[in-house]
Amino acid sequence: MCMLLSFTISSTPPGPTFRLTCAAVAISGATVAVRSRPWTSALSIHCDEHPFVPEVERAVDSLYSEFRAVDNLVACNSARVLKAFKNARVGFHHFGGSTGYGHEESGGREALDEAFAEIFGAESAIVRGQFFSGTHAITCALFAFLRPGDELLAVAGVPYDTLEEVIGIRDSNGLGSLRDFGIDYREVPLAEDGGLDWDALKIALKPQTKCALIQRSCGYSWRRSLSVEEIGRAIEIIKLQNPHCLVMVDNCYGEFTDRIEPPMVGADLIAGSFIKNPGGTIAPCGGYVAGKKKWVAAAAARLSAPGLGIDCGSTSGDIMRLFFQGLFLAPQMVGEAVKGSLLIAEVMADRGYEVQPGCGAPRNDVVQAVKLGSRERLLAFCEAVQRNSPVSSFTKPIAGATPGYASEVIFADGTFIDGSTSELSCDGPLREPYAVFFGGDEFVPEPVKFYNQSTIFDQPFGAFNPPTKKGKSPSVFLVDIEADVRDAE
Ligand SMILES: Cc1ncc(COP(=O)(O)O)c(C=O)c1O
Repeated sequence: MCMLLSFTISSTPPGPTFRLTCAAVAISGATVAVRSRPWTSALSIHCDEHPFVPEVERAVDSLYSEFRAVDNLVACNSARVLKAFKNARVGFHHFGGSTGYGHEESGGREALDEAFAEIFGAESAIVRGQFFSGTHAITCALFAFLRPGDELLAVAGVPYDTLEEVIGIRDSNGLGSLRDFGIDYREVPLAEDGGLDWDALKIALKPQTKCALIQRSCGYSWRRSLSVEEIGRAIEIIKLQNPHCLVMVDNCYGEFTDRIEPPMVGADLIAGSFIKNPGGTIAPCGGYVAGKKKWVAAAAARLSAPGLGIDCGSTSGDIMRLFFQGLFLAPQMVGEAVKGSLLIAEVMADRGYEVQPGCGAPRNDVVQAVKLGSRERLLAFCEAVQRNSPVSSFTKPIAGATPGYASEVIFADGTFIDGSTSELSCDGPLREPYAVFFGGDEFVPEPVKFYNQSTIFDQPFGAFNPPTKKGKSPSVFLVDIEADVRDAE
């Protein structure tokens, strides 16, 4: 939505009033603004009388109140981020890089950790480029808590695919999974409605259960994501059984989708990736762990080494600035991703596809899953998204083995940051029910992608007839991947 907004702004004479008006109308008013302003003639270069695919236009119109609610969420979270930046006295001097041990660093590391902790309601935080990924940060957090003889209890069903080898659900070939270190594992399956099984949870803990793992987002499962309120209720139930059981939340994809975050409702640690929500599509790498001071220090010791703590590790070049800037923009980027998800759900459901979350259901992450039902559809969908991406549009994604995943996975990620699922991208494991997962859809509303010709919506949506007919005539646009590949060659 914001891409449309900024395009509109750049094609108008400068004026604070108009800027404010635009910001206020945010999404659904933007279409109207584009059409009714005489100075938007530049837009006619790209857009005719009906610049949007009709079904997208209808969907946007129908989502007005949802989009408005997202704008309020963004405003609320942005205010919290700004306050934290001010309190941490973030300044230019924090943006410099460091080398070697990172001992001569100019305070940016500390300011970033401090701001992050405040934003997430945590005592302490460690945000570092040295975390390879969300999986790596989560692993450091789990190893911070668990010792031989302890038990890890996953209370929201199966954890994300890449944690299987970390935990030892899948053999890690002796490379050091939790199981290799003598840590047991159990799961509380989800209830039939896809949420937490509250009754089972009330009696789930054993004396040796040292850590409960809660996965906020759906991952690659066909399940709904958890609200922070639900996470808080689960923590209460866990702590009632054993106040010494520590709670770790896999926070990937959930950040800024609510007004509160898990540490505010009692989570001992949260962990996630900076090339997802909190990096605002700007951070080029990294991850974070936040929560109780003692346990953040233990996770940091796992990232580096016991005794080194969090005051070391160099970050070269311009990366510190990108961390700060990405974190600052994150609420807005997440807001756009949520709007994109709403739109995808609306359009695909209208075409007869099963979507998760469903239209009108609450959103607790930025992920939108669409059940495509066959390997061929999943591949074709990802190919179509790739060819409509700003980066590597000329390539064809190929399904294959990916480190950490048992299933073959296909990724369409024509993104500026490699593997960034915060930019428009989608992926999915090649297994039943052959669902595609959109991770970040913030650039979807850009006019060029809604443009009423070869749009990203038109191609993947137009290429498939709905599995269940709803009396609509599908678009005639066909995806000619082979021709594309030949062109590229
Ligand atoms: C819920 C969840 N947890 C963890 C991860 C792993 O994150 P990463 O790919 O950064 O290792 C993912 C990735 O999609 C996820 O969806």
